[in-house]
Amino acid sequence: MNGHRTFILPIEPNAPEPSVVQQAADVLRTGGLVAFPTETVYGLGANALDPAAVGRIFEAKGRPSTNPLIVHVCDEQLLQQVVADWPALAVKLAQRFWPGPLTLVVPKNPAIPDIVTGGGPTVAVRMPAHPVALALIRECRMPLAAPSANRSSELSPTTAEHVWKGLEGRIDLILDAGPTQSGIESTVLDLTTDPPTLLRPGPLGIAEIEALIGPIQKRLDTLRTGPLPSPGLMERHYAPKTPVELFSSRTALDERAIELVAAGQTVKKVLLGGSDHSASVMPTNHDHYAARLFAELHYLDSLWLNRILIEMPPDTDEWLAVRDRLTRAAATGS
Ligand code: TXA
Ligand code: MG
Repeated sequence: MNGHRTFILPIEPNAPEPSVVQQAADVLRTGGLVAFPTETVYGLGANALDPAAVGRIFEAKGRPSTNPLIVHVCDEQLLQQVVADWPALAVKLAQRFWPGPLTLVVPKNPAIPDIVTGGGPTVAVRMPAHPVALALIRECRMPLAAPSANRSSELSPTTAEHVWKGLEGRIDLILDAGPTQSGIESTVLDLTTDPPTLLRPGPLGIAEIEALIGPIQKRLDTLRTGPLPSPGLMERHYAPKTPVELFSSRTALDERAIELVAAGQTVKKVLLGGSDHSASVMPTNHDHYAARLFAELHYLDSLWLNRILIEMPPDTDEWLAVRDRLTRAAATGS
């Protein structure tokens, strides 16, 4: 895969040019890899029905074959090619939240090759809310397997530049529609358990889901110690190369910064709100914070730093997705 020439095509986010969409669809039809924008992060797409094409995704990302992919669809007809069963809860959730940042895990259709699902009997599926993603799927008329378009365990990409930095020379094409909107990956909900299980917190909050379908299980507390409910929920994930330390109080963070600087280390602080001009000051609204998080980490990781010190946002449900990504960014395990 290395030694490939990777092309970038600019595309209008809200009115994608048909000729550009067609070029990208041609690459996908011939088994190639196309990075495209979604409302969450950039995805690395391939024809989900073609095992060889999907194999190229794993190769390009350096992703373990046990970590299954999300399949993206644009309508009911394609959805039927992906799933074996579409339970009443799925109908309800999709009606309300699709297109949007909610991925549903359901029994897989035999047409979906094992390589997509890590050999498992279930498939993760979503309809993304981005005009470019939808136009692309519509044009090639194939369900698209698409993980986030980054090297495995590195930071997810929220711009075409992030994709280029990680995957240049390994994929065929990047559609550049500017920065993505939500900035963190979709909420993943497993509908094969009763009640459903939240596997990954994301832009769609627990409160909104529970308001529609009632209480769900949150397996997040078992992430560190229990068996992994989703093979992709590895601890170190979404991580910059620069070591990250987390702090639940600003005082503790400041003390640590002073200590490190005195020891000759180069340090940058990431604070929640405030007016410290020597630090990255992040928005106090959780959606805005999430939208900026990965771009900020990509940027900080490009500086010559020994350490990134981050103030943890409050331990509440609305900050769950951001806290999850920060915890992973700081994890040092495999
Ligand atoms: O927002 C997103 O979801 C982005 C955009 C491109 O759609 N995609 C994304 O894909 O984040 P990826 O591959 O980076 O994360 C997929 C997550 C992983 O945690 C994976 O383990 C889980 O979904 N997953 C996929 N298939 C699954 C399955 N059958 N059962 C349980 N978890 C699954
Ligand atoms: Mg990912």
